[in-house]
Amino acid sequence: MADFEAIRDEFPILDQSIHGHPLVYLDSAATSQKPRVVIDAEDEFYRTINAGVHRGAHELAARSTEAFETARAKVAKLVGADFGEGHEEIVVTAGATASLNLLATAFGNASLGRGGAAARRFALKPGDEIVVSKAEHHSVLLPFQELAARTGAMLRWFDLSEDGRIQADRADEVITPRTKVVAITHISNVTGAVTDLAPIVARAHEVGAVFVLDACQSVPHLPVDFHALDVDFAAWSAHKMYGPTGVGFLYGRRELLEALPPASFGGSMVELAWLDQPAQYMEPPARFEAGTQPVAQVVAAGVAADWMRAIGMENIAAHEHAIAGELLKLGDIDGIRILGPRDNHDRIGTVAFDVAGVHPHDVGQFIDAQGIAIRVGHHCAQPVHRHFGLYASNRASTGVYTSLEDTRALLAAAGHVRTFFGL
Ligand SMILES: Cc1ncc(COP(=O)(O)O)c(C=O)c1O
Repeated sequence: MADFEAIRDEFPILDQSIHGHPLVYLDSAATSQKPRVVIDAEDEFYRTINAGVHRGAHELAARSTEAFETARAKVAKLVGADFGEGHEEIVVTAGATASLNLLATAFGNASLGRGGAAARRFALKPGDEIVVSKAEHHSVLLPFQELAARTGAMLRWFDLSEDGRIQADRADEVITPRTKVVAITHISNVTGAVTDLAPIVARAHEVGAVFVLDACQSVPHLPVDFHALDVDFAAWSAHKMYGPTGVGFLYGRRELLEALPPASFGGSMVELAWLDQPAQYMEPPARFEAGTQPVAQVVAAGVAADWMRAIGMENIAAHEHAIAGELLKLGDIDGIRILGPRDNHDRIGTVAFDVAGVHPHDVGQFIDAQGIAIRVGHHCAQPVHRHFGLYASNRASTGVYTSLEDTRALLAAAGHVRTFFGL
């Protein structure tokens, strides 16, 4: 088993006081903190090999290209994707939101006939259906809702059980022969529940639909293998997996990436461009990476991926599972309700909660005054809050550096909220 106390020491930001208390960071679902190796990798890149990739003939450009492509391979290994020239299944984007918009835009372009016969499998028309769930982050809901509006397709969704799990056993009813796209989260950023993907993916493929996974909250916390999950596309962000901001990834099964038309246009994605003829686009992943890439950040994200694999994703999952068990004791406090499963299986240490009679912003401020960082608001997931009859909530979420002391500090603070507000 990895030494998680030593791992925590690798995060310089955690060694500080906030409002006179040692910092307790319980907001990793929003963004994770960064270990020294990741911070150093970005710094080292700028000090030694900074240059544009895939274009210069000079030595620095060759080195930065090599570092960029090596990072892509490291990220691919973390999620069980293929890598190596001509086999790449990882596209670099600006983040999960950008990855999901890339896909929705590309499907929209296919619906206009772009990409020719190969892209017809992604095309939507009036009468077709796109399926999401009530647990989706707005970064899934809104791009696909917009795609439905642009193509005349209808948006349908999976409902949730009382404790907020996606009702995967309804896959045969919700996904119909008219369904063309299914876009579902692997783990809700509110309930922390892991989706029972197998029946949903199987049903999507049975009717010939494309399955898109939002892997933002799974890749940082669990062993994830996109081939084994049999998903067609997946999106996630580097900044939630101990990497830099400004970078995300889109996984696509190679044959699907080859068939997908581009979504943004510009330099570095075109083989041939003329004034009087259509352009000839590059093969993936370059076809989807128009413009100058965030090379230093991608290189550092590759370091983050290797760093996570070196600890072992099973070890990370086991560590956070134990912490989640402690966090769930929030539900034992008088007046606190957990939004999501109370039992500690098929869930991660992301625990949203409501304190009866106290506005989440007041709860957050009271807890922050004790040096404890949690998230308050709707967490960009309004439909799931409506499911629980709320507009907003408080959320504590774990990372590899979270300790039992962190959770105990939160439990102690949360236990005093209602009395502090005179309830
Ligand atoms: C489940 C989920 N999906 C999508 C996103 C969007 O990620 P980003 O803001 O990094 O693009 C988030 C981020 O909070 C998330 O938690």
